[in-house]
Amino acid sequence: MKKIPVIIDCDPGVDDTAALLLACQIPELDVRAVTTVAGNVGVDKTTANAKRVRNIIGADFPIFQGADKPMFRDLVTAAEFHGEDGFGGVELPIPEEDISEEKAWDAMYRIAKECDGELVIIAVAPLTNIGIALAKYKEFPNLVKKFVIMGGAAVGGNVTPAAEFNVYVDPEAADMLFCCGTPIHMCGLDVTMKCYITPEEVKQIADFGSVQAKLFHDVLQNCMKKYMQSGNRGVALHDPAAVLYSVYPQMFTAEEAGVRVETKGTRTLGKTVTDLYSDKQFEQHNVCVVTDVDRTAFIEKVFALMKQYTN
Ligand code: BDR
Ligand code: CA
Repeated sequence: MKKIPVIIDCDPGVDDTAALLLACQIPELDVRAVTTVAGNVGVDKTTANAKRVRNIIGADFPIFQGADKPMFRDLVTAAEFHGEDGFGGVELPIPEEDISEEKAWDAMYRIAKECDGELVIIAVAPLTNIGIALAKYKEFPNLVKKFVIMGGAAVGGNVTPAAEFNVYVDPEAADMLFCCGTPIHMCGLDVTMKCYITPEEVKQIADFGSVQAKLFHDVLQNCMKKYMQSGNRGVALHDPAAVLYSVYPQMFTAEEAGVRVETKGTRTLGKTVTDLYSDKQFEQHNVCVVTDVDRTAFIEKVFALMKQYTN
C-alpha cells in the first residue's frame, strides 16, 4: 500500500492526544513527524505532552518544537479546557529523551522537499509554524500537496461568537496560509461539532483495555464534563476529525470556497470569512470547506482504530 506521508502540527491538548492516538493506527498514514506549537498551553508543555503520547503509543516519529507565541501577538491559551498541563489532568511521567534540535518550520520544509510533492500537513493547532515556514521559504507552498486543518468555521465560533480557537490565536498566520495557493481542506467547527463522542462511547473505548484506550478515555474526561454542562451530547473530537478526513474523505461532505481571515476587527477578530454562501465572490477557491460528516461511520472508525491497540 502506498502510504500518505504526513506531518501532524499540533498543541496537545486533549483532542490532539486523541488525534495522535488514532493517526498512529491508520495503515494508510506514514507519520513522518509531529511538530508542536504554543496554543492550548505553552509550547514546552505541548512538546512534553507529544513526548508522553509518543511513549504510550510506542511510536518512533520525530518531534520538532515550534513557535512559543503567535507571529505578531501575545499567546492566548485554552488551559481551562485542556488543564494547566494541557493533558486534561492525566498524570503520566514525561519521558526523558531529547527531541530533535531542528525547528518545526525547518523540518516541515526539509521533509516537504524529501517527499517530492506528496507531503500532506495536518495542522490541528494555531497556524504559527506554517506561517513561519511560508515567510521563510518562498517555494514552500509548491512543495506541499495539501494542508488539512482543524480550524475556523463558516458559521460561528467557539472562543468568541465569531472565531474558532486555532485561527483566533494566530489570525495573521492563518490568513497567510489561506492566501498561499496550496489546496487547503478546512475541517472547522461546522463539521467538528458534529464529530462528537458520547460519554458511553468513550467508556466503551476504555473497556478495550489497552493503555492507549485508557489514555483516550482519561484525557477527555474534564472536557467531557464541560461539554455536557453546556448541553452537548458529547465532547467534540475536533482534531481527530481532521486526521480522519485526510484519509477517509468519503465520510464527509465538503464544498469549494474562498476563505480569508479577519485580522483587524475587534469583535470579529479571527473569523474565517468564506464565500460558501455568497455567490463565490472571492478570486481564489483553493479551500474545501468541510461541512458535514456521517457520524455513525466516523465513530465506527474511531472504535476500529482504537481497538487495534492491544497492550
Ligand atoms: C481547537 O482548539 C483547541 O483547543 C483544540 O485542540 C482544537 O484544535 C478547537 O477549536
Ligand atoms: Ca489542537
